[in-house]
Amino acid sequence: MTAPLQTRVLPAGAEAVEQAVRVLAAGGLVAFPTETVYGLGADATDGRAVARLYEAKGRPPFNPLIAHVVDRKAAQALASFDADAARLAETFWPGPLTLVLPRSAGCAVAALATAGLDSIAVRVPGHALARDILAAFGKPVVAPSANRSGHVSPTTAAHVAADLGGRIDLIIDGGAAPLGVESTIIACLGAPMLLRPGGLPRSAIEDALGRKLADAAPARADNAPRAPGQLATHYAPRTPLRLDAVRVAPGEALLAFGPTPPAGAEDAKRTLNLSPRGDLVEAAANLFSHLRALDAAGASAIAVMPIPHDGLGEAINDRLARAAARR
Ligand code: TXA
Ligand code: MG
Repeated sequence: MTAPLQTRVLPAGAEAVEQAVRVLAAGGLVAFPTETVYGLGADATDGRAVARLYEAKGRPPFNPLIAHVVDRKAAQALASFDADAARLAETFWPGPLTLVLPRSAGCAVAALATAGLDSIAVRVPGHALARDILAAFGKPVVAPSANRSGHVSPTTAAHVAADLGGRIDLIIDGGAAPLGVESTIIACLGAPMLLRPGGLPRSAIEDALGRKLADAAPARADNAPRAPGQLATHYAPRTPLRLDAVRVAPGEALLAFGPTPPAGAEDAKRTLNLSPRGDLVEAAANLFSHLRALDAAGASAIAVMPIPHDGLGEAINDRLARAAARR
């Protein structure tokens, strides 16, 4: 765990926007209001910043995050829009709608932020302060709800401070988030599908599309968002994973961690090190991109060195175990 941070709280305004941009550019974490709930923002293109964000939320399972951008044009640099997606963006952005879309080839968002998936969740928020920050920063900002993992989403700066004080750099107090529920999430990866009910009602979306939405899963009586992570399938490499490997067999690729290579490492088909100096934040930032690269090496298996279970190690081991079990 990293040492406690001094969390500053600033009232909404030009000074707050300037400080937010500074924090984001330095790879730090800033909580700000959106029209739905308060988000915890990090530079979406900076894998280390994204890793810190997961760590700050606590017991991080590396759920894919929503990339927030200032307008449709910026969203189009990240993802591809079919006709339905274009219609929804046109009708409801800026606003409480998140679209899950195919990730585009030139997408600059870190692989950790999308949990290694080929899809990406994108949202153009309507809140003036959020928009000012996004416009001034000029890059996509990932922003999960600014609560500790397992807690409810925060709708005031005080909620954020109670959950994340000492764990993030800056909180901008812009008053209560007007909607108080998260954005509605629609996947446009085929027939449009409702992944999470939220601030934009289903009927409005169905009216705009001129047809019914498919449901990702049976609706719940309490209409609450499903637990994060249940929404997205997990990234799984095609090459089998061999965990806690202490030696590398012929034909295997090696996913290393730390300064000391295991026996047989020199014969590995390809080696990538999550963090040569054994830093778990760096390892998390590299996890999905390294897995993808090793998956393309044509190896019989990917030998994965043991990774400690403390801090972000818990989530790294969780994702590796899922990836290994998926076959
Ligand atoms: O209103 C909101 O959407 C707020 C504000 C801050 O913008 N953000 C928010 O983020 O609720 P978060 O991380 O708490 O929820 C994002 C949800 C997660 O449940 C995640 O699984 C899902 O979006 N998600 C992200 N990328 C996905 C993808 N590629 N496929 C399916 N689901 C995805
Ligand atoms: Mg959340």
